[in-house]
Amino acid sequence: MKKITIAIDGFSSTGKSTVAKQLAAYLGYIYVDTGAMYRAVTLFAIRQGCMKNKTFDAQKLIDNLDAIDLSFKLEVNTNTAFIHLNGENVEKEIRSMEVSQWVSHVAEVSEVRKKLVELQQNMGKYKGIVMDGRDIGTVVFPEAELKIFITADAKERAQRRYLEFQEKGKSVSFEEIYTNVTERDHIDTTREDSPLVKADDAIEIDNTHTTIEDQFQTVLQLAKDRIAGR
Ligand code: DC
Repeated sequence: MKKITIAIDGFSSTGKSTVAKQLAAYLGYIYVDTGAMYRAVTLFAIRQGCMKNKTFDAQKLIDNLDAIDLSFKLEVNTNTAFIHLNGENVEKEIRSMEVSQWVSHVAEVSEVRKKLVELQQNMGKYKGIVMDGRDIGTVVFPEAELKIFITADAKERAQRRYLEFQEKGKSVSFEEIYTNVTERDHIDTTREDSPLVKADDAIEIDNTHTTIEDQFQTVLQLAKDRIAGR
């Protein structure tokens, strides 16, 4: 069967990764969470001491970019790929509030974007891939056969993330999360290099009032159509 490239972009905490993972599992495609890559670089920067006194020393990170090795390793029993930073599984660490607070600043750095976009394009060389992020349909794979752009009301997105933190037993307030979500929206959409914008040929889905299953069915139908050349 013909393999295609599926680009899923959208705002933070819209559940992009949920639908992207479902789709990849159903189609037997590779799934890549590019947000995890920007988060892993951010974790590296924090560990290198690039964030001090609430300021981010971007040059220090740029000077150390060659020391970053990112890879995804598949865990067979859960069929999930976990991101590794220099060989260490950092999937948990990259979801912390501290990383969330810095990641949009790190993602503004063109040198970081150049390195990650190259890696992403390499991963998608043979198609059969579902990639989610902010610039996949516009910059990474402008030729993708299917592009989805996901939005949802900011309060609803913050509420979903708040429940996730609660389920993990982490004490973060709703206000803190809401502020983080809206700040990231602002930085992601206004940065100079590859801002978050809907590609002209992307299909927009607002999932504020949609169930995960309904959304999956909609996207799956679109993917089947594209695979069939429709
Ligand atoms: O999807 P996420 O919330 O884990 O992404 C974290 C941050 O990374 C997000 O605020 C913006 C940045 N990002 C990006 O600039 N480009 C991508 N392709 C993916 C994420």
